[in-house]
Amino acid sequence: MNLQSTPRYDALSRAFHWLTAIAVTIAFVLGPEHFGRLMHQGLDPATRSDIVWHESLGIFVFAMTLLRLLWVALRPAAPQLESAGWLALASKLMHLALWALLLALPASALLALGSEGHPLTLLGGVRVDQMPLIANSVFAKLADWGDVHGLLGDVLIWLAGLHAVAAIYHHVFLKDGVLLSMLPEKFSR
Ligand code: HEM
Ligand code: HEM
Repeated sequence: MNLQSTPRYDALSRAFHWLTAIAVTIAFVLGPEHFGRLMHQGLDPATRSDIVWHESLGIFVFAMTLLRLLWVALRPAAPQLESAGWLALASKLMHLALWALLLALPASALLALGSEGHPLTLLGGVRVDQMPLIANSVFAKLADWGDVHGLLGDVLIWLAGLHAVAAIYHHVFLKDGVLLSMLPEKFSR
């Protein structure tokens, strides 16, 4: 198959995808351990660059996901590759789960900080000390949102890993254009 006939996602969708993948991976690596204990010991999270970077990357992913979803509604149709029925369904379900987690992670993090009264501390000295809207909401006491957030972070990384393995399997064994559809034009079969 020549270069032109390899169906691809548009350039903006590809940029969003790889920026998100990089930001999520770094945020995961920086996921602050024992955050609750450190806060009870009086730590100011603004003094810890891993926490500041984790939260900033996470908020960046949140903003990017909202913009991305807007773009999904407006963009040219995503490439339609011929796949067996069950594979197409599995891929749809995987995308749905990844989109849901990309929204649920920042949401659960904000619920965790707001309900515990911990500050949100971002790069550039940006700081939100209190989130009364969250603290006073019915959601605040529904769960230990810090635990929920950590668990969702693990689930996202496992699913993203499975999704990456599936993309490589498509490329190496099924030899279809699924992986190429998310890569720049210079990659071709
Ligand atoms: C890309 C999105 C994100 C991923 C993959 C992610 C992942 C994680 C993981 C795995 C942990 C648990 C770390 C551990 O216990 O070893 C964690 C903790 C934490 N994250 Fe995130 N996170 C994301 C976004 C955010 C955002 C947007 C914020 C802030 C608004 C945030 C704030 C926190 C806080 C405060 C904790 C400690 C929670 C606690 O134990 O009470 N995260 N994150
Ligand atoms: C945290 C990491 C990742 C996340 C959250 C993620 C999420 C997503 C999402 C939401 C889509 C749908 C995109 C759209 O409709 O615009 C997608 C598509 C895609 N992703 Fe990822 N991805 C990640 C990592 C990877 C990696 C490492 C690879 C390759 C090794 C990969 C390969 C692909 C491919 C080939 C597609 C398009 C084809 C398809 O699955 O139907 N992704 N990804």
